[in-house]
Amino acid sequence: MKNKRSSPVDELPGDHPELTSGIRQVLYTEEQIRQQVAALAQAISRDYTGRNPLIIGVLKGVVFFMADLLRALTISAEVDFIAVSSYTSEARERGMVRLVKDLETPISGRHVLFIEDVIDTGLTLHYLLQNLRARQPASLEVCVLFDKSSSRLLNIPIKYKGFDLPPYFVVGYGLDFREKYRNLPFVGLLSPEVFENNKTTNQG
Ligand code: PRP
Repeated sequence: MKNKRSSPVDELPGDHPELTSGIRQVLYTEEQIRQQVAALAQAISRDYTGRNPLIIGVLKGVVFFMADLLRALTISAEVDFIAVSSYTSEARERGMVRLVKDLETPISGRHVLFIEDVIDTGLTLHYLLQNLRARQPASLEVCVLFDKSSSRLLNIPIKYKGFDLPPYFVVGYGLDFREKYRNLPFVGLLSPEVFENNKTTNQG
């Protein structure tokens, strides 16, 4: 696994206890994320020159990554969003998700790049890719910033990938724990006490 390097909590950037309370370790720093996002943007800009891609993100964790990625592109691109919701956690485990916000842009004949902040089991991505493919885009590729491959149930080809994540609960840069921590500029490991006191099935 890539992310061997980490800093203890007392090296967390700045002095913002309200923001960093419950984080035990930095996994990827703001600078590491910035560099990786720049590298992804460079590859995407190279591959999509002259193709005016439609870049689609699934709300809402992706907005942080998407905003930074898009600003680092050196080509023109269009943006749209989709949002999903689980019927129940059991339904989600079976790969059933519900579209609660559809695209505003027709994608038939377009070069589509689908962006995710994190891929865990792969069930959400699998569902969404099937849905998008049925609309007959000219091409459809995937870019994921954080890959928790140890949790994968379905193998999905990912063209652009940022970081591997360990099999722990990770927050920051869009990833939440009960809607908290999304706005951390780095990615960190959640303290076990926080997790144990507020158990949830949702790593996103
Ligand atoms: C995250 C992420 C994916 C999904 C991945 O979303 O953005 O959509 O989880 O999980 P999977 O591979 O197991 O299907 P989440 O439901 O946490 O919503 P959020 O982006 O609003 O936090």
